[in-house]
Amino acid sequence: MKIFIDTANLEMIKEINSWGILDGVTTNPSLIAKEGTDVRTRVKEIAKIVDGPISAEAMSPKWEDMVEEGRELSKIHKNINVKLPMCIDSLKATKVLSSEGIDVNMTLIFSPQQALMAAKAGAKYVSPFIGRLDDIGMYGTDLLDQICGVFDNYSYDTEVIAASIRSPVHVLDAALAGCDIATIPYDILLKMVAHPKTDEGIAKFISDYEKTKKK
Ligand code: E4P
Repeated sequence: MKIFIDTANLEMIKEINSWGILDGVTTNPSLIAKEGTDVRTRVKEIAKIVDGPISAEAMSPKWEDMVEEGRELSKIHKNINVKLPMCIDSLKATKVLSSEGIDVNMTLIFSPQQALMAAKAGAKYVSPFIGRLDDIGMYGTDLLDQICGVFDNYSYDTEVIAASIRSPVHVLDAALAGCDIATIPYDILLKMVAHPKTDEGIAKFISDYEKTKKK
């Protein structure tokens, strides 16, 4: 499974990239706003750090404008893909952009039917938001199983990005469901490395090693 980081913070991206595990980056308008910058500037900066897919969200409401905005965003760097929110205009824009070789990441996916339509329109990625489903008392993980099952049944090439991840267990769920990618916030990536038994083991090895040193 590929690991993307879900942030627009450059320091976090640099740190995780230095671990050698980072395959790409997703941003959204809320994450960009948190950094006090704009999407064009920030994705250009991210592309200098990470050699992998980077999502930049187009915000035009009408499909013709989405297509224009998507074309402009894709010109920033070869690794940029255009994030579009699931709706009819986005399907129309996806059809055009994908036919021009511009990758689309259909975001705000909350049902397998939405994912199926995005795949049929030519989306390179779909982003089911599992944490936001958990927030309203539903099992977000079920959605991952359903989408991966549907895509497997019909051999769609569209890649599933597990998004809106809130815990290391969500990452495990994504991997067990067979998602191609999980886009993970910085704090969850830190939690994925940690284990109390590892810390305990390191402390014991250090103390035993000290005993073996010649006085
Ligand atoms: C995905 O691409 C989105 O940026 C993100 O995962 C949304 O997560 P949230 O529900 O925590 O805002």
